[in-house]
Amino acid sequence: MLSRIDVVTLFPDWIRGLRELGLTGRAIADGTVDLHCWNPRDYAPGVHKSVDDRPYGGGPGMVMRPEPLAQAIESARGDDGEALVGCLTPQGRRLDQAAVRELAGRERLILVCGRYEGIDERVMDTLVDEEWSIGDFVLSGGEPAAAVMIDAVVRLLPGVLGHDQSAEQDSFSDGLLDCPHYTRPESWRGLDVPPVLLSGDHARIERWRRAQAIERTRRRRPDMLDLRGLDAEDERVLAE
Ligand code: ADE
Repeated sequence: MLSRIDVVTLFPDWIRGLRELGLTGRAIADGTVDLHCWNPRDYAPGVHKSVDDRPYGGGPGMVMRPEPLAQAIESARGDDGEALVGCLTPQGRRLDQAAVRELAGRERLILVCGRYEGIDERVMDTLVDEEWSIGDFVLSGGEPAAAVMIDAVVRLLPGVLGHDQSAEQDSFSDGLLDCPHYTRPESWRGLDVPPVLLSGDHARIERWRRAQAIERTRRRRPDMLDLRGLDAEDERVLAE
C-alpha cells in the first residue's frame, strides 16, 4: 500500500492545501501517508535560478530545463529505486478508478508536475516511468492534476474512509455510475423522496439503487456499461 508521495513542483502551494484540508489532511496528520514537495528551483544554479529556457527549433513558450528538474526528481527518489515516477501531462494515460486503485497499491509515488510548454524530453526518457492525464483538456500545469490524483488515491488507503463510507460503495467500484441520494426533509419544495427509500425494506432499497445506477449509466455513459457484469435482474431493469 502507498505510504509516501513526493511531488516535484515549481508551485508547492498548490499541493499544500492537500496537507491542510479535509480527508487528505487527516491521512497525512495521522501518518497513513507522507507527502513531500521538491522544487526544481532549489536545484537551479546562479542568481536567477532559472528553470526554463526557449525551445530548440523555435516556437512559443518555454520548456523546463533538464538539469534542475532531474536533480529534484533524483532527490525525491533518494536511493529508493522502486519508487514509481509519474508525470502529469495531457499526453498521458487517462486516469480512471482502475488506475487509481493500481496506484494506491504501490509503495511510493513520485509525481512530476510540468509547467510552461513542456519538459525536456530527455528527462521523460530517462527519469519518468509513466505519463498520466486527468482528461482531454489542457491545464496550465500539472499541479491541479497531481492534486486530483493524490486525493483519489489517498481516499482508498486503509482507514482513510470511515466504515459507513467504504470505497466498495463508490461510484465506479462496480463499473456503474452512482445512484441518486436523498436526505431530510421527506418533502422539499414539493419534491418527495422516492417512497422505496422510506420503506425500511433493505433488499428492495438495494435493488432500487442498483436499477437507478444501471439506468443512469445507460443514459449518461453508455460507453461504460459492461453488459457482462449484469445479472438477470439487471437485464430486466434494462429491458423496461
Ligand atoms: N497538465 C496539463 N494538462 C493536464 C491534464 N489534462 N492532465 C494531466 N496533467 C496536465
